[in-house]
Amino acid sequence: MRAAGLITGASSGIGRSLAREHARRGRDVVIVARREDELEELASELRERYGVTVQVYVKDLTEAGARQGLFDFLEAEGIEIDYLFNNAGFGGNARFSEQDWSTVSAMIELNVTAVTELLHLFLPGMKARGRGWILNTSSTAGFMPGPLQAVYFATKAYVNSLSKAVASEVDGTGVSVTVLCPGPVETEFADRAGFAEDNAMMGQGASPSSVARQAYTAMEAGRLEVINELGLQVVIKGLLPLLPERLVMSVIKRMQS
Ligand SMILES: NC(=O)c1ccc[n+]([C@@H]2O[C@H](COP(=O)([O-])OP(=O)(O)OC[C@H]3O[C@@H](n4cnc5c(N)ncnc54)[C@H](OP(=O)(O)O)[C@@H]3O)[C@@H](O)[C@H]2O)c1
Repeated sequence: MRAAGLITGASSGIGRSLAREHARRGRDVVIVARREDELEELASELRERYGVTVQVYVKDLTEAGARQGLFDFLEAEGIEIDYLFNNAGFGGNARFSEQDWSTVSAMIELNVTAVTELLHLFLPGMKARGRGWILNTSSTAGFMPGPLQAVYFATKAYVNSLSKAVASEVDGTGVSVTVLCPGPVETEFADRAGFAEDNAMMGQGASPSSVARQAYTAMEAGRLEVINELGLQVVIKGLLPLLPERLVMSVIKRMQS
């Protein structure tokens, strides 16, 4: 495979669009998620439109040994990963005390542990080869506490922190780490997170293709962070640090309810 990219959560939303961005540059791709039909459909599209090699890998990344198994499979196939898109993730709209532990624990396993382990598995090879591009999909949720999505916001705060610290550690090695922090995006995310149809989060988002395009360009340029809209950048970087935290949380709580 040529300039292979590994994309988790490629069966829908931002990951699917990232796969298209990668393939349209003539780069081969390994796509991972649980839904085989969606992955196979995407693989056929990418092969036909861009003439690239696509490897489909169907896996629940929260399963024990899943990330090591993926790494071992790629090693055995002789597939070198130059681009890692740590993108799979999910949220959950509920009071923390009322959320099932199984949901909380799977969210931490996917949004935190899988992201960390994949980074840990693929980074040494990239450093040894002196080239690598990593894009971790976080969220603007990572910049504040999020009542009614407490665990989700906390997982994304972790991804922001980890990504930036590792980006600093690999400075000058030929490897870059970029963290993507989108606001709402029109994907299956809000539906799966349990938001009601009339929630402020629904129907207001950016298109996954526009977010993926911006993210891919930022990753190629080795940027540290990408927030997908200027208005959001102003709010997150300019306004948020000036506001009392209790006020921010009451606004977030209203938006999530
Ligand atoms: N949409 C938004 O408003 C928004 C905003 C900011 C950040 N984000 C972040 O963007 C990333 C992508 O989400 P999206 O918006 O594109 O939502 P999405 O359409 O629901 O896509 C999520 C992807 O993750 C995969 N996935 C979920 N659980 C998995 C598991 N256990 N094992 C393997 N793959 C799994 C899903 O595939 P399968 O179900 O087939 O496994 C799907 O491909 C997430 O990290 C999310 O937190 C989204």
